[in-house]
Amino acid sequence: MSIERLASRDQAVMAILKTSEEVNQLKDVDTILDKILYESRQLSGADAGSIFLVENDTLIFSYVQNDTLFCKETTNAALYQNFGIPISEQSIVGYVAKTRQSLAIDDAYELDPTLPFSFNKSFDEKSGYRTTSMLTIPLIAQESRLVGVMQLINAKNEMGKIGPFSEEARTYIPLFCNNASVAIERGIMNRELILRMMQMAELRDPSETGPHVQRVGAYSAEIYETWASRRNHSPKAIKHVRDNIRLAAMLHDVGKVGISDTILKKPAKLTDEEFDAMKWHTIFGARLFKNQTSELDRMSMEIALCHHEKWEGRGYPGVPNADVWNDELILGGEPKKREIIPLAARICAVADVYDALASPRSYKDPFPDEKCLGILEKDSGTHFDPEIVEIFFEIFPVIKAIREKWTDNETV
Ligand code: C2E
Ligand code: SIN
Ligand code: SIN
Ligand code: FE
Ligand code: FE
Repeated sequence: MSIERLASRDQAVMAILKTSEEVNQLKDVDTILDKILYESRQLSGADAGSIFLVENDTLIFSYVQNDTLFCKETTNAALYQNFGIPISEQSIVGYVAKTRQSLAIDDAYELDPTLPFSFNKSFDEKSGYRTTSMLTIPLIAQESRLVGVMQLINAKNEMGKIGPFSEEARTYIPLFCNNASVAIERGIMNRELILRMMQMAELRDPSETGPHVQRVGAYSAEIYETWASRRNHSPKAIKHVRDNIRLAAMLHDVGKVGISDTILKKPAKLTDEEFDAMKWHTIFGARLFKNQTSELDRMSMEIALCHHEKWEGRGYPGVPNADVWNDELILGGEPKKREIIPLAARICAVADVYDALASPRSYKDPFPDEKCLGILEKDSGTHFDPEIVEIFFEIFPVIKAIREKWTDNETV
């Protein structure tokens, strides 16, 4: 419901409080940005919007929604675009970041030439979009830290006609953004914490682990979203699970912390004995989530334990969830099969193997895409849930966009 249609100031404040509370329940930064942008657009009637986050004095493009341009698939590929804008007075977002004041513009093409910034038309020229009104808001968290900038574009009235942003939107959205900024900071921190854990656990080499972990998390979130949309799950339910799977999938190999360096970093094929030792990373990982106090813990446990199980069996560790805590346990029980393997683990299996194939490892060079996709296709229905492989191929443009965002030589 847009703010102008709320009868009173109290109602507007109540709507913002309720939304803030919902934002505070989310954990991953992408899900938080999605929610904040969506709710701000609802409140203001904006057709489109984007969020930039501050990284080393640059505003990094981090999220976008556009009702006119994007159908579902293209939105998701657009999300992973990689570009930054300097914090300087020359651009609108840079100016807002610098002055820390929100700025409403009625027509981006008719800016007063005495203003220090100009509107960059290149995006409109490429896409055919016509940007008219803009409301650009600094995202400021506690201790006046600048987290980023949100830009809302093209306010629509009830008839769908584009006009300036209302007084109410200009007043209330910045208030909502103050709460939102704190949530964004927390979401960034959650991801950074997981990345540090994984750097410690995995190759003990930040340049290799960080991007792999980010990609497996993002692939898994996108695959899940398509899987659940096919089943007509509600958008709210999808976002909730997506939030958890994004982070839980990042933790799939956290149990490698218990594997010795000589095995983990061996620049050659493992012996059978070494590979048996390696299999324990699934159980070590699962044990970290013994005290399951949240759905995130439950899903992290399922993924850590079951990401090497196979659709037709013959995966590992093959132990029932309840036996994970038993130190006497011997690997190689009756492997899990089919839907007994939790959905999140079936998804993560495809995401992880594709990424391992396409990336360099201490024991292998990266494979070209045809070879990676050939292996997924060949092992669909034996190693992998065939529907998950089918979805992977369907959203392959998004998968490629994710790979371009987190390339292997880049630090995170
Ligand atoms: P990882 O490197 O992240 O690989 C994850 C999974 O991707 C592997 O699970 C496997 O299913 C798939 N994969 C990786 N490379 C290839 C490949 O060249 N061909 C095919 N067809 N599939 C591949 P898996 O086999 O259970 O291995 C689990 C982990 O054990 C690996 O994680 C890696 O850390 C370690 N590992 C496996 N084989 C070797 C090896 O020969 N040498 C070393 N040093 N480590 C290995
Ligand atoms: C599930 O495992 O959650 C559902 C099974 C399926 O439809 O793949
Ligand atoms: C779902 O089927 O969407 C839920 C999957 C899960 O929470 O494990
Ligand atoms: Fe693994
Ligand atoms: Fe992995």
